Amino acid sequence: MEIVSKASELQVFLGKVTEGRSLGFVPTMGALHEGHISLVKKALRENDSVICSIFVNPAQFNDPEDLDRYPKRLEEDIDKLSKAGCKLLFTPTVDEIYPEGYKAKKYDFGPLDKVMEGEKRPGHFDGVASVVSRLFSIVKPQKAYFGEKDFQQLAIIKSLVLQDGLDIEIIGCPIHREPDGLAMSSRNLLLNKEARMAAPRIYKRLIEIRNMAPANSISSIKEWAIDVFEQDPELELEYIQIANPQNLLPSSCWSESSTHIICIACFAGSIRLIDNLLLEIKKEEV
Ligand code: PAF
Repeated sequence: MEIVSKASELQVFLGKVTEGRSLGFVPTMGALHEGHISLVKKALRENDSVICSIFVNPAQFNDPEDLDRYPKRLEEDIDKLSKAGCKLLFTPTVDEIYPEGYKAKKYDFGPLDKVMEGEKRPGHFDGVASVVSRLFSIVKPQKAYFGEKDFQQLAIIKSLVLQDGLDIEIIGCPIHREPDGLAMSSRNLLLNKEARMAAPRIYKRLIEIRNMAPANSISSIKEWAIDVFEQDPELELEYIQIANPQNLLPSSCWSESSTHIICIACFAGSIRLIDNLLLEIKKEEV
């Protein structure tokens, strides 16, 4: 696998990707797990060439401590990517992504960046939009792959592509879970023993909520969930939201949409985790 850290070096490779041949792109922040590798493998199946990037983007961390402790595992990542069959890795520096004089473009994401992660992590999605638009302008892929664990991020990136008029297909890929149900995340590496044991209860709660719908109202389910988390000494709920998957606005009743997305952010020890589950409502059930 070739590893390049300069956009100019990448252009040499991109020059060889001749017209009519498709280029897939998997942007990551490293500390790769099976979920990331499944994105790379899907990209390899669906494209003639694939580029993966590893860049821990300072602009999307609203908490400097979170940035400092974000796991870095470059050697292991290189090994995993090579084994998966990836032929090119882009590892830019901060200066390469944000050169002197760089001005971030302002996007209008409507409600998408005002709720949930957008509300709790001010500036986070501006940072995500900056890096993704910059990476897209360097790599110019036909298809780009993102995990559905960051469901809100996925919606924002789809909106970014529309606003910029880019001809890039954004492909969301299912969440990969550990055998105990915990959604795979680079941050799981930071969990201590107690927090790691508690963390699968987030998915358990999501399933319970899904099973309570639509027989129980959305407001009563949210109250129930807040209560259950309050009784859990290891998990501190930041939010539980049941929202419309298209615009991410809170759902008020089950009948207003055939699908809803249940989203949770919570702390397991000092580590903030997010997870979600899609919920389909059959007409006859409402
Ligand atoms: O999901 C991630 O790993 C990051 O937010 C992304 C999309 C690579 C941008 O830094």
